[in-house]
Amino acid sequence: MLNATAVAHPNIALVKYWGKADAQLALPATGSVSMGLDVFPTTTTVTVDGGSGDGQEARDRFTLNGHVVDDGALVRVQQFLDLVRELAGSSERASVVSENTVPTGAGLASSASGFAALATAAAAAYGLDLSPRDLSRLARRGSGSATRSIPGGVAVWHAGDDQGSFAEPIPAPPMAMVVVTIDAGPKPIGSREAMRRTIATSPFYPAWVTSTTETVGDMLTACAAGDFTRIGEITESNALRMHATIEGAFPPIRYLNARSVAVFDAVAELRAGGTEAYATADAGPNVVVLTKPEDRSAVAGALASLGDVIESGTGPAARVLRSEEIGSNPD
Ligand code: ADP
Ligand code: DP6
Ligand code: CO
Repeated sequence: MLNATAVAHPNIALVKYWGKADAQLALPATGSVSMGLDVFPTTTTVTVDGGSGDGQEARDRFTLNGHVVDDGALVRVQQFLDLVRELAGSSERASVVSENTVPTGAGLASSASGFAALATAAAAAYGLDLSPRDLSRLARRGSGSATRSIPGGVAVWHAGDDQGSFAEPIPAPPMAMVVVTIDAGPKPIGSREAMRRTIATSPFYPAWVTSTTETVGDMLTACAAGDFTRIGEITESNALRMHATIEGAFPPIRYLNARSVAVFDAVAELRAGGTEAYATADAGPNVVVLTKPEDRSAVAGALASLGDVIESGTGPAARVLRSEEIGSNPD
């Protein structure tokens, strides 16, 4: 019986991915840029054991945080494993056991760490020897944001065709993040569905695509120049543009609540006081603050009354764990 365990971390987009050009192939409408976290790892074990049931009835099994999953999240895992099996020339079902340390479905990128860990573990368990680029392309099919959790660090995910749409590391200045968790519960509408509704109904969506395409270029220039200030300004602006675009959908979707906005205000106040900090938020109420590494503790202290704060450095790439590492803390 073949099995492998992998660990991957969430990433927070500095320039967001919001919208697919091709849902089947999970090709994004624009490029995006992210910073991988060194907190909140997901650890996933894939065992190619036939899954549950026999013959035509065989199904994959999926356990998340100790609970057997049998809803849409299982279907998503099964469909993903079907792609892996196709690449491996196998028809054997598997058992997947995953532990998220990040809240699931709360806008803190559980689908990124989750599918990056699953792609890495499943590829190893089914005996595929994929390059980092091909592993990133594979993770993309599970969740778009997972594409960028394969390289970790500061990464760009290229828009493009199936071959060309992968993430890779880019040079960037030292950066840190402070995660301000306001609500760890699952969001009312998942990213995938919210993206579809935005594309179908938000009149701002075409402008989002045009402007973000340009913003990715500006962000790559700022990263290459090591210009932290510019990176921060672009990050906060792009996040607000994404939320404005989402709020333009019908029926409207609003991920940010009053407490989220209070964090954006507090971050602006920090800047007015001379500390460089910039706020962003993915599809959920939780806010993530980009800082210089030397400022992260002060920023965490300043925001501690507004939510649960956790400091993060720039995280590692997804990787398979050696047998002696399994069961111990992957960090
Ligand atoms: P988030 O903001 O947490 O990324 P999404 O709506 O994008 O929220 O994705 C949440 C979905 O991602 C879950 O409902 C589940 O389908 C999937 N997911 C989360 N964690 C894992 C995991 N560890 N393994 C497989 N799938 C996962
Ligand atoms: C707001 O990657 O979760 O976090 O591809 O449908 O799984 P699917 O969506 P997902 O969307 C992430 C959206 C975002 C921005 C980002 O991470 O770039
Ligand atoms: Co997600």
